Amino acid sequence: MQADGSIAAVSNDTSVSLGQFSPAAIARAGHLATGLPLASLAGKSVLARQLHALVRRLAQHGLLDYRLFSHRDEQDLVVIEPQIADYWPQRAKLASSDTIVLSRFAYLRRRGNEMVLESPRAGALFRICDPVIAATLATLSQPQKIGKLRKQAPSLNLDLLGLLLDSEMLIKRDAKDGDSLRLDEGDRNLALWDFHDFVFHTRSTEGRHANPVGGTYAHAGAIPPLPAVRPPWPGKTISLRKFATPEHPASPFAKLLRERHSTRDFDDQHPVTLAELAQFLDTTARVLSEWKSGADVDHGPEVTYSSRPYPAAGSAYELELYLTVSNCEGLARGLYHYDAGTHALFAIDTSAQQLQALAMAAEFAMDASGPPQILITIAARFGRISWKYSSIAYSLILKDTGCLIQTFYLAATDMGLGGCAIGTGNIDLFAKMTGLEFYVEGPVGQFALGRGKKAGRGG
Ligand SMILES: Cc1cc2nc3c(=O)[nH]c(=O)nc-3n(C[C@H](O)[C@H](O)[C@H](O)COP(=O)(O)O)c2cc1C
Repeated sequence: MQADGSIAAVSNDTSVSLGQFSPAAIARAGHLATGLPLASLAGKSVLARQLHALVRRLAQHGLLDYRLFSHRDEQDLVVIEPQIADYWPQRAKLASSDTIVLSRFAYLRRRGNEMVLESPRAGALFRICDPVIAATLATLSQPQKIGKLRKQAPSLNLDLLGLLLDSEMLIKRDAKDGDSLRLDEGDRNLALWDFHDFVFHTRSTEGRHANPVGGTYAHAGAIPPLPAVRPPWPGKTISLRKFATPEHPASPFAKLLRERHSTRDFDDQHPVTLAELAQFLDTTARVLSEWKSGADVDHGPEVTYSSRPYPAAGSAYELELYLTVSNCEGLARGLYHYDAGTHALFAIDTSAQQLQALAMAAEFAMDASGPPQILITIAARFGRISWKYSSIAYSLILKDTGCLIQTFYLAATDMGLGGCAIGTGNIDLFAKMTGLEFYVEGPVGQFALGRGKKAGRGG
């Protein structure tokens, strides 16, 4: 309870303010420590409505788990752990005559002493506490009629199946699918994802899982840190020092590489200008030429290609730039897409709150004193590259992102501006801001750009 009468939820070292509620609602919410039936949130009474609002607020902050348990012995059958901010358990409609199958992205694995069912598509993971349910789920590698399935495992009831279907762990199969297990699962953008790439993307970014992210030093107590420089190999050494003595004048490019450094705090009295931004984008990312060529496969279609200032795997150029502008002279605050073909910015309508959240996350990642003047979110059109490459698509995208980030660093240094790569990014927030599905086009890197605080050095 806070001084103004509102209540807060405290978890680890973070505190979330929940608002003001009646003492009766707060007392009932106390039962959440052991379990509160979802049914008690239904109803029109003031208490039920208050309790519902309080529970929804806790859910929005990912502070609730949902238990399905056996009424006979009160043992948990399944516990649902939300992975996205606004997960709320919902049952998709099912009939005994429906045929269902596991999504090709769903996987069952051991986590500590537990068995968990996860999927990069799902907004929650399902902790499977009952071995019969785990074994029955495994049989869903093949399509099954619900009626028959329930005879094998009565604990796999329609509630649970509806929740699994809603989370896209299970897929409903139509009669028109015949015997084929479709790769696309109802959206052909999904057919373009390899399983490992999809898991890696959603688990190595923020927004679609609830695991710790970033520099947590998880192994600091158990394993010593590796040295900064690899210990030398034994055997004959050929020193190269005599070939690179300070007497040899460094080329302008070598000087640029030496000058490059990360800049995290920006001079907000003298922000980057629109003209500088235009020059920066022209130098680093603009389309220089376009051409067409046949795909190197039998009866392959004609493919369009482009050339740009940085290298990219297969000349695919799948990376797109989205600019969160907080402080740029001559350009209003907002979100913009850089159209590399026409060298133009397109404004995207989005909420001020979401813009602030994106910029603040970058500020936090850099431990900076304010938001970056311009935050460049590098998003990938995943299908552009996975249409051609198997197994290596996502790894190529990350390598392309590295090439682009170094190009940004060097161009910023050359222009007397400052910048910093950012290793984290929220793919769910970006999806909400742009309306793009997270598996169609989404963040794979970020770069903060601005005029550094110390004039002359760009930082
Ligand atoms: C892929 C990548 C991710 C990075 N992520 C962050 C980040 O999240 N926050 C940050 O402050 N710096 C980040 N940096 C910047 C590095 O900390 C920085 O490059 C490194 O300390 C070397 O310093 P220098 O760039 O000034 O030479 C990142 C750099 C790279 C290449």
